[in-house]
Amino acid sequence: MLKMGEKIAIIGSGYVGLVTGACFAELGNNVICVDSNSKKIESLKRGIVPIYEPGLDTLVSRNLEEKRLYFTTDIKYAVKRSDIIFICVGTPPKENGEPDLTSVEKVAKEIALVSNKYKLIVEKSTVPVQTASWLRKIMDKYIRSDFDIVVNPEFLREGSAVQDFMNPDRVVIGAENEKASTLIAELYKQLNAPILLTDISSAEIIKHLNNAILAQKISTINIIAQLCDKTDADIETVAKGVGLDKRIGPDFLKAGIGFGGFCFPKDLDALIHILRKNKVDSKLFESIQEINKNIRNYFIIKVESYLGDLKGKKLGVLGLAFKPNTDDMRFAPSVYIIRDLQKKGAKIKAYDPKAMNNAKSILKNITYCKSPYEAARGSDALLILTEWQVFKDIDLLKIKRLLNKPIIIDGRNIFKKERMRRLGFTYTGIGT
Ligand code: UGA
Repeated sequence: MLKMGEKIAIIGSGYVGLVTGACFAELGNNVICVDSNSKKIESLKRGIVPIYEPGLDTLVSRNLEEKRLYFTTDIKYAVKRSDIIFICVGTPPKENGEPDLTSVEKVAKEIALVSNKYKLIVEKSTVPVQTASWLRKIMDKYIRSDFDIVVNPEFLREGSAVQDFMNPDRVVIGAENEKASTLIAELYKQLNAPILLTDISSAEIIKHLNNAILAQKISTINIIAQLCDKTDADIETVAKGVGLDKRIGPDFLKAGIGFGGFCFPKDLDALIHILRKNKVDSKLFESIQEINKNIRNYFIIKVESYLGDLKGKKLGVLGLAFKPNTDDMRFAPSVYIIRDLQKKGAKIKAYDPKAMNNAKSILKNITYCKSPYEAARGSDALLILTEWQVFKDIDLLKIKRLLNKPIIIDGRNIFKKERMRRLGFTYTGIGT
């Protein structure tokens, strides 16, 4: 049981909810995390975190022990005992790209029906602009107590989410009135981050545009990487040159097999959908998606150009997760690439430090290996699909001895081509 005076409820203990809840508890708040998945809640009560996220298990264990963090499947219990309620449930994409808000709607109704005093409802799930006003209408129908809605988008990156939560560039709060914005701003005070107070709709758009601009940088660099391949330019040097312009900045200019994960692809789809719905030109964002899909084919064509017909070829794959420091396989470029390589008749041996368990249910007919060296042994080429640090530190001479042919096709540009060629590899990256 929690200490007296708990006040935050987190509805939805998935990626965002769990990190948010654990971090608010770490900041000294009493937090009740809710999830409908009873198996997950039972594990969390014992301090077992179902996802790999650096530092999260320590936070969960510590705050469970100090009785600032509590897990339950009982949403009524959590709502009754809290003043501030974060909605962190999933908003998965529908066929047409529109996010499915069924869970948000269900939770809003449940909160409304049990609210016994003033509640501050925080929209944390990523949703299209004007969802908050839709939420207000649903709540209004069922609620008897006073309440406000605020929009407080999250900007956490998987793999560094705890660090990102504790050191945000800024906190965005879209609120209807001062009482609501002051209440939520108070929660973030200790972080000493700039707080941007906005209207509700602007906060919703900030979240979508933030991800869209980052995705745009990646697709831009990936197009230019293809031009570098056709000329004698080097994308790493080009990215450095433009990144030094403070107006552009060096981040999100790493060329490779493109973006994946549960955020960029789905949030771009949702943005495109809402633009079309409002009859605003969406072509820019459609191109970003298109380029991201095409870069995966570009990589496969590269593999074929080095190996010829892939039928019966043995390929070692290093990295499956959509990015390093996570076990998340959702929309990972590796999934599309490996499936296509398999269709072309290639035999895949793969290694990932954390994502293999999740990969096993998605990618079949693969030999999952215990080490990167095992993936290299007897393979006709080695493909790098995620830039884990362990791969950057790998014993390249050992890899060379183990491979059938010393070919490395690097989808994440983790090595310098000069060094690789000096070591006797046939090496190519994307634009380098
Ligand atoms: C992204 C945003 O960075 C977060 O701010 C946001 O909160 C989150 O989405 C979300 O909406 O929940 P995340 O998806 O965890 O975070 O990962 P990123 O680090 O942004 O990487 C996304 C993808 O872009 C990865 O597949 C990564 O490999 C790729 N990427 C990233 C590149 O290909 N090149 C780069 O230079 C950077």
